[in-house]
Amino acid sequence: MSRLLDLRLRWHVFRCRRQSDTSSRFLLQLARWVASTPRAPDAPPLLEIGTRSGGSALLMLRVLEMMYRGEGRPPTVLTVDPYGARPIEGASFVYDERFYRAMKRNLAGFANHVHYMMDSELFLRELDNLYVWGDGAKRPLNRFTLVYLDGSHDPEIVWFEIERLLPRVIPGGFLIVDDTDWFGGETRRRLEAAAPQFDVQVSHHGKQTLVEV
Ligand SMILES: C[S@@+](CC[C@H](N)C(=O)[O-])C[C@H]1O[C@@H](n2cnc3c(N)ncnc32)[C@H](O)[C@@H]1O
Repeated sequence: MSRLLDLRLRWHVFRCRRQSDTSSRFLLQLARWVASTPRAPDAPPLLEIGTRSGGSALLMLRVLEMMYRGEGRPPTVLTVDPYGARPIEGASFVYDERFYRAMKRNLAGFANHVHYMMDSELFLRELDNLYVWGDGAKRPLNRFTLVYLDGSHDPEIVWFEIERLLPRVIPGGFLIVDDTDWFGGETRRRLEAAAPQFDVQVSHHGKQTLVEV
């Protein structure tokens, strides 16, 4: 990655950091991974589970806009979050309609953003029945360029997300799991053990785990 590109990514992190509870250091890693995904005119969507005020989604949308400038329309970013003060396993945070309103305000300007107001369990159960229309064509949600998991950190829920989403990540794409140090690092250990079976590379970067497909 060139020094100029990295400086630009830092600028985008600087602009988005106040809308996110993720630290600038980890947002910068996310920005670099988004910038490193394979680019194509019909690239599959990026998916974020756990959106809060839309800070990390805003960063992903801005980085994609920059990377696709002069190359055509950037891919869609799908976000999934139920809001509604759903209880968070292992924490006492409350994500209610204040966060939903902030998310809508932050992401309103992006025509390539779609929000699903539901938890990951319902979204993943319905995934095979979902599609989006683009350029007059029906597009199933069966492939993703990048998946970012930052919803519940309960290992059982995260594993359900990983098992259903990792097979849909395209070659050269990434699955990123946030806060894998929670719950004694259980998600980390499960990912390391399952890496050969999924045929992926797993590495840890602070509180985030990167899975390279
Ligand atoms: C840590 S915040 C996300 C922060 C955001 N990615 C950022 O960096 O700006 C966690 C979010 O996950 C959502 N959430 C909790 N459980 C969820 C689930 N099972 N499915 C989807 N989202 C969930 C919460 O409502 C909350 O908005």
